[in-house]
Amino acid sequence: MLVSAKEMLTKAKAGKYAVGQFNINNLEWTKSILLTAEELKSPVILGVSEGAGKYMCGYKTVVGMVNGMLEELGITVPVALHLDHGSYEGAKACIEAGFSSIMFDGSHYPIEENVAKTKELVAICNEKGMSIEAEVGSIGGEEDGVVGAGECADPEECKMIADLGVTMLAAGIGNIHGKYPENWAGLSFETLDAVQKLTGDMPLVLHGGTGIPEDMIKKAISLGVSKINVNTECQLSFADATRKYIEAGKDQEGKGFDPRKLLAPGADAIKATVKEKMELFGSVGKA
Ligand code: 13P
Repeated sequence: MLVSAKEMLTKAKAGKYAVGQFNINNLEWTKSILLTAEELKSPVILGVSEGAGKYMCGYKTVVGMVNGMLEELGITVPVALHLDHGSYEGAKACIEAGFSSIMFDGSHYPIEENVAKTKELVAICNEKGMSIEAEVGSIGGEEDGVVGAGECADPEECKMIADLGVTMLAAGIGNIHGKYPENWAGLSFETLDAVQKLTGDMPLVLHGGTGIPEDMIKKAISLGVSKINVNTECQLSFADATRKYIEAGKDQEGKGFDPRKLLAPGADAIKATVKEKMELFGSVGKA
């Protein structure tokens, strides 16, 4: 059964480790992530961007697929199904469809509007026992065509949003989605520390988990980050393994590639990436 991310993140914050959010795009990715979490006895959050939701036919299909897998793969670790960077409308659609967690990304609204919309969604999520993530200070890079500049959040604004009763808060600390440029200044631990001091027990979320050096990840966890999002690194490992398989020319004479064999190396590559991240984040054995 899908669970809210609240309990797993409260435990992570107290235990000074982070739960990974791995974005899903199709059946293979989902299966790989779930099997790895089960094998490592780690809690996990499956992230679904609005674009990926559309690609997989819609949120109801995603919920059906994930619930079916939890049962048929015998998954016993806590799993949350979470909307990633949701719009206000997307958040409502996922609540209806049976997600167990949502992110409402109101970071591009003026703070008053972000507050008003977040407040409304917090009330709905509380009633349904769902978790909700809010964002302050936009995360840089491009995701689903939305480009942010990698701001550092204003700690006072973070407190204002945290006080609305959200479960977890994504505060921009110079992190960006996708690969980091050569001249990236690194994470702003000063901002993170200030946010953590004002928001207390609130689990903080680090987006853009791909390409952040290990020592920075560990320091971020020590300063209150309890959830780390990873997407690009899975994409890179999946694409690389699939390309190698195709280049090796393992198609069957007259029948083309066996579709299951074609996607198997990519699925294995995702398992390896997820394992590496869970070990780094310290969530292994915490289910
Ligand atoms: P990366 O694609 O940089 O790993 O970031 C993922 C993310 O933050 C999803 O919200």
